[in-house]
Amino acid sequence: MSTARQLDVALGQRGYPIWIGAGVLRDAARWRAAIRGRHVLVVSNTTVAPLYLDTVLAGLGGLHSAHLLLPDGEQHKSLARCGEVLEALAALKANRDACVIALGGGVIGDLAGFAAACWMRGIDFLQVPTTLLAQVDSSVGGKTGVNLPAGKNLVGAFHQPRAVVIDTDTLSTLPEREYRSGLAEVVKYGAIGDAAFFAWLEEHADALSARDGAAVAEAIARSCLHKAGVVARDEREDGERALLNFGHTFGHALETASGYGQLLHGEAVAIGMLLAARLSADLGRAPAADADRLERLLLRVGLPVALPPGSDAEALLSLMYLDKKNLSGQLRLILWRGLGAAEIVPDVADGAIRHRLREN
Ligand code: NAD
Ligand code: GLY
Repeated sequence: MSTARQLDVALGQRGYPIWIGAGVLRDAARWRAAIRGRHVLVVSNTTVAPLYLDTVLAGLGGLHSAHLLLPDGEQHKSLARCGEVLEALAALKANRDACVIALGGGVIGDLAGFAAACWMRGIDFLQVPTTLLAQVDSSVGGKTGVNLPAGKNLVGAFHQPRAVVIDTDTLSTLPEREYRSGLAEVVKYGAIGDAAFFAWLEEHADALSARDGAAVAEAIARSCLHKAGVVARDEREDGERALLNFGHTFGHALETASGYGQLLHGEAVAIGMLLAARLSADLGRAPAADADRLERLLLRVGLPVALPPGSDAEALLSLMYLDKKNLSGQLRLILWRGLGAAEIVPDVADGAIRHRLREN
């Protein structure tokens, strides 16, 4: 067996392991044990499959398996493509003990996980995340879903995977911008709840930028540990889980305003986290020096911190009102009291947000 670190998401009967290690995907003896039946559908895309599909298929010998490759891109996280996954399960004659393997980034993980949630009212699935963002965030926690023309992630289900297989070697083929975008979510964990991890990230910023194997594996493990804890305490986002959206209300508005694909998700989140930190300081809730520290770390790992030129504060503010966290039409922002201490703030005045959007 390869040496892999194991973390556990403690959700009782629905709990599951997260294995993190270099080469863990080649160690089929480990992850195959999580497959209970004989039918397996591997879902991937045309970018990731040529790199890693053979390794997965090699581990499935003796089982009745098939694979479905979708085109690459967020626009394919759709109901239509989900229908294709369900048709592939039908063609496989998948029973209730069948398993879906999601091999790819967050797009494939969300889509294939949602198809697994729908087939026969829910079958097993394994997450095999191959982007840093998916390894530290989307593969853990059971949020699955697809987009509608009306908005991102509007259709979905909470459906936990049976296991998460994080092979850090897969990051070697990830484009630089995608890798740095994933680092924004890593920084987020330090920012919202773990000042010691934030300090560790400051110490290891150069190693992380250089994709040093040990530093990257440690950053992934600490991120997953944080997320697994939050999910175990608040699976359905009745409270604490909302803190994981630090920077995301601003970020989603920015992604929409600038057109999908202009800013990667993590880039928009980086700008959004700094806006949230500076707004917290504007409101007297947090020290401005902590926002400065956040800005320095984001810059060191190569992430943007300023709004794109020409950003329209009024348009961004109205987009923020479309956020899923809002209740009864009222904006709920995730702000902080300082490094490692995020909080939900339900009543921030529009004027203060407008001011911050114009200042950045
Ligand atoms: P992605 O899945 O589009 O992957 C980014 C790009 O990298 C794609 O072109 C992909 O083909 C490519 N790629 C993936 N792995 C690779 C590898 N190892 N080598 C080379 N190329 C590789 O994007 P993402 O950033 O991973 O995920 C974004 C999606 O995740 C969004 O749809 C977002 O809504 C979702 N998300 C979900 C959650 C959740 O909790 N479920 C959390 C955060 C984000
Ligand atoms: N990405 C936020 C969550 O999983 O809750």
